[in-house]
Amino acid sequence: MSTAVKMEQTVSNFIAKPVKMLIGKDWVNAINGATFPVYNPATGEVLANVAEGRKEDIELAVKAARKAFEEGPWHKMTSSERGKLLWKLGDLLEKHLEEFAQLESLDNGKPLTVARGADVPLAADLFRYMAGWATKIEGSTIPISVPYTPDTKYLAYTLREPVGVVGQIIPWNFPLLMAAWKLGPALATGCTVVLKPAEQTPLSALRLAELIQEAGFPEGVVNVVSGYGETAGAALAAHPDVDKVAFTGSTEVGKLILQAAAGNLKKVTLELGGKSPNIVFKDADLDAAVAGAASAIFFNHGQCCCAGSRLYVEESVFDKVVDGVAQIADNIKVGAGFDPNTQMGPLVSDEQLKRVCSYMKSGLEAGAKAVAGGEKLGDKGYFVKPTVLTNVDHKMKVVEEEIFGPVVTVMPFKHADEIAPVANDTIYGLAAGIWTNDVSKAHSLAAKLRAGTVWINCYNIFDAAMPFGGYKQSGWGREMGKESLELYTEVKSVCVKM
Ligand code: NAI
Ligand code: MG
Repeated sequence: MSTAVKMEQTVSNFIAKPVKMLIGKDWVNAINGATFPVYNPATGEVLANVAEGRKEDIELAVKAARKAFEEGPWHKMTSSERGKLLWKLGDLLEKHLEEFAQLESLDNGKPLTVARGADVPLAADLFRYMAGWATKIEGSTIPISVPYTPDTKYLAYTLREPVGVVGQIIPWNFPLLMAAWKLGPALATGCTVVLKPAEQTPLSALRLAELIQEAGFPEGVVNVVSGYGETAGAALAAHPDVDKVAFTGSTEVGKLILQAAAGNLKKVTLELGGKSPNIVFKDADLDAAVAGAASAIFFNHGQCCCAGSRLYVEESVFDKVVDGVAQIADNIKVGAGFDPNTQMGPLVSDEQLKRVCSYMKSGLEAGAKAVAGGEKLGDKGYFVKPTVLTNVDHKMKVVEEEIFGPVVTVMPFKHADEIAPVANDTIYGLAAGIWTNDVSKAHSLAAKLRAGTVWINCYNIFDAAMPFGGYKQSGWGREMGKESLELYTEVKSVCVKM
């Protein structure tokens, strides 16, 4: 028996009292005084109470962001100064790594070891990567050919300017990292932000807001309003004085965001659902492919928009791969995030537990066979067993719809030529995996897959420099990389008669 890690004092202090929100320079309660409970998914008990922002609080936050954008010191700051602030934020985050890892594990359920090794360092790295971009956001000079007399010439150039006040709405699967992915490019380009974390997991974003103040970002540049999607989120997406909304979450809500944004035609970027194919050929390094296929679906308990949830295996190695993945699934240690032995924590909420269990049930009722898992685990907390389903086809809901849990469907295929259309037979297009030792097969298949990221002989590799986002109904635009910066800027053409 291992002993659970002890909660840091800073963490228990942070959640002891109802957590306030940051609007302008002030830590405030909601105007109407409401709070909402945040649960510990490992126990189902209330972990903290948090201010419940609504439309009127969003109103104040947008005003603060607008003021900071138009007239504050932010607006006059050099890009080098902006870069320094972002770098400092990355450093501060790293300094508080253990504290953030603990908050994230308690709030989301993920193993503390994962939060320490992935979520927090990747968030710090993202801020530093974006710090470097702050001084490199450039326009260009344009040779123009309009008719002119020998005496008239024109000089034309472009400026890349920040898009303005940005509303950012993020999910609960990587609460801190999603905040970093959103804030990084917005701050590097000089925008101001109203961030709404998910109601399931608002803690790390609120604590991050304290570090943002400590780093020295001027007041109103970042405002964090916690609250529910239907109230605070919807008000932010619809707000007439918000210039852009950036959203990560379900495809269903993504479509609502788009409708809400139509009022003032604000810019929209969306990072939505997925049902990503992971394709194993018989000539792959099968040990690596089996381990990779398991981690593609089980990492973060399957609560990844890019989870490798449809596994396709070449017929002759199908049984071997299925057995291997099922064996890994059966041996995964599922438990509370604070237990050092835990490899997989609970799902984030009771709602997600019910959703994932109902998918398992629908699959089994439609004739799928659970070669591992297939049900919930225990009576306390939101745990499910890592699940491998065979005997499935594209007509079943479990193959067609995003489950967002540790449930993989495995299907055999006969020929390399037939797999691309099958892999692309989905409304989504976020990611895909290919496992083979044949280089030309790998690259020609990568070109045929309609997905924003294709991993070859690896999966779930993320880097601040590598753009991430979706084709089809997986979204609009890209996060990270220099592509994300373009989506936080407007291009202005300036034309001078010489
Ligand atoms: P959701 O899409 O409802 O929530 C994501 C964010 O949107 C949260 O901050 C939420 O408060 C906000 N939101 C909800 N309704 C809104 C509205 N009408 N206007 C503005 N903001 C709104 O996702 P939910 O309900 O937590 O999860 C349902 C399913 O969505 C999951 O099972 C999964 O399939 C998918 N999902 C996908 C994610 C991704 O990374 N692409 C992340 C989270 C969920
Ligand atoms: Mg929802």
